Amino acid sequence: MKIMVILAHPNRRDSRANHILTTEISQESNIWIRDLYQEYPTWIIDVEKEQRLLLEYDRIVFQFPFYWYSCPPLLKKWFDDVFTFGWAFGPSGENLKGKEFLIATTTGGTENQYRSGGYNWFSISELLKPIQTTIMRCNGTFLPAFVTYNANKGSTEYLQKEAVRYKKHIYESREILIR
Ligand SMILES: Cc1cc2nc3c(=O)[nH]c(=O)nc-3n(C[C@H](O)[C@H](O)[C@H](O)COP(=O)(O)O)c2cc1C
Repeated sequence: MKIMVILAHPNRRDSRANHILTTEISQESNIWIRDLYQEYPTWIIDVEKEQRLLLEYDRIVFQFPFYWYSCPPLLKKWFDDVFTFGWAFGPSGENLKGKEFLIATTTGGTENQYRSGGYNWFSISELLKPIQTTIMRCNGTFLPAFVTYNANKGSTEYLQKEAVRYKKHIYESREILIR
């Protein structure tokens, strides 16, 4: 299985959690990690290239720090630009049919704070619904997300354990993830 990880971190230099997660998977021969903010400093996305790459990979992972209950803005722009009418959805827009998509995010909040009725009112699954709906509109398969909570206060040892769990999650078969 060919896996493409699209990392969207606006401030990668100061990243601890996402840095540890990407380091864990960086030596994997069938995982290609890309850094969206590094690749597109002017935010002008090469749509043709992105669409070509999407066709080449079986599983696409969007990795990002959770910002204001959502993804960082360049990734939102990436969806807006790349998932075009007639290519990703609409008539003859069947290019993403069956392709697997997976969100991997890190949050400052704890798992306890992301429960219905809790401190943040909603769970991460609920808050990811706009992205899930986007993927499903484009006939993609939306796999259960990977979440590392408490990313700022968690110890390095905790984050390293999370990174091991992340690698396992990325490789896990669809059947196991959704059972
Ligand atoms: C602009 C901004 C918005 C953020 N919004 C949230 C949020 O909505 N929920 C949350 O749990 N953490 C939020 N955080 C905390 C980040 O998710 C956290 O710092 C990040 O996941 C840590 O990963 P890193 O070490 O790779 O940067 C926010 C941080 C910033 C800078």
